[in-house]
Amino acid sequence: MWDPSHSFCKTSMSSLTNKRILLGVTGGIAAYKSAELIRRLQDRGADVRVVMTRAATEFITPLTLQALSGHPVHQDLLNAETESVMGHIELARWADLILIAPASANFIARLAQGHGDDLLTTLCLASESPIAVAPAMNQAMWANEATQENVAALASKHVRIFGPDEGLQACGEVGAGRLLDVDGIVLLTEKVFPSHLLDGKKVVITAGPTREAIDPVRYISNNSSGKQGYALAEAAIEAGAQVVLISGPTGLPAPDRSRRVDVVSADEMFDAVMKEVGDADIFIGVAAVADYKPVHREEQKIKKGDAPSNQVLRIDLIENPDIISGVGHLAGRPYTVGFAAETQNVVEYARKKLTKKNLDMVVANDVSDTSIGFNSDDNRITVLWADREVELPKLSKRNVATRIIELIAQGLREAGRS
Ligand code: PMT
Repeated sequence: MWDPSHSFCKTSMSSLTNKRILLGVTGGIAAYKSAELIRRLQDRGADVRVVMTRAATEFITPLTLQALSGHPVHQDLLNAETESVMGHIELARWADLILIAPASANFIARLAQGHGDDLLTTLCLASESPIAVAPAMNQAMWANEATQENVAALASKHVRIFGPDEGLQACGEVGAGRLLDVDGIVLLTEKVFPSHLLDGKKVVITAGPTREAIDPVRYISNNSSGKQGYALAEAAIEAGAQVVLISGPTGLPAPDRSRRVDVVSADEMFDAVMKEVGDADIFIGVAAVADYKPVHREEQKIKKGDAPSNQVLRIDLIENPDIISGVGHLAGRPYTVGFAAETQNVVEYARKKLTKKNLDMVVANDVSDTSIGFNSDDNRITVLWADREVELPKLSKRNVATRIIELIAQGLREAGRS
């Protein structure tokens, strides 16, 4: 049974659980971020061992990375001490993935040319496991034709390239070449190992806002960007599900391998959901569905001066159908997950929605905080079931989505429906 007193990260099933990751650290100022990366990979269940190039040790000490990884750090090809703990060929065989982060321009060049003149390049040559590099360098070095050719050569040999990011660099310049943020590297690392958590399941997800027409050019809507719902669609696809994404108007591209159904109003979303949900295993209602719509949609554009003499123009509103409540009360309903967008008493109100709408799980978020609510890149959620709840730290919406998919898979297992 799940023990909610454990921290979420340690108890959740991740595609990195028990995966053996050989982290190569090369020379560059971003080497200090490898300390955080080790921790985050371990949080996701990975066993991490570290190889450092000589240049990397100028930026962060082997002792730091040894303490964090819990294993001796390997540095030299012909070091009798570390070879006796685990020889380099054994180390190459041990790894499920070799991840080089940060990867300097020099290292990328040597890897592309097949060098084997230090421990890290030798391990890459000797390993049959996937290799990923997260480049980090000055923007001009990244843009240099030689680097671009080397990166293209690696990509053509199926080496995965994680990043780089753009922005302000340690040297004061701005451009592409920054190490991808640690969350992003972890996420891409997880993608190397599909989780299979929802293999063969049909998942229907609603996302984005709805628009309720007042006249041909005006509508009532809200600030939902669709980011959280689309991130969930991507996470479900990665977990092996067939995803139908029923989306209100957003500017986002449909995730690869999803089937997107575009809708505008709550009524249209209701019809699309009811059409799709009959054979679904899971329904996730992320959409910010308008609770009310105008009773009448004016045929022509309302004109200035159309207001009566007291200058108050009234628009009468009527309730929209509650889509998720409709799904929650279907006989033989799918595992039904709602969201609760609250501005106060977040958990208390979310729990009421869980009961009233007859849901299996509710994801509560505080939308009064603009850094985590509508249209933000991050979210902080509390997940509630009838008998328990778990609070997650602030994470990117993509990472939140991965956690939610894991919790849904766990909920399905516990309900004997996996
Ligand atoms: O799209 P983003 O910019 O990334 O923002 C994400 C988000 C804040 C929209 C998302 O995290 C979120 O909280 N979605 C739910 C928004 C909402 O409408 O919450 P609610 O508390 O009003 O509704 C509760 C649940 O009922 C939701 O699952 C909602 O989809 C559903 N509902 C609501 C009204 C209605 N008529 N039909 C419904 O199905």
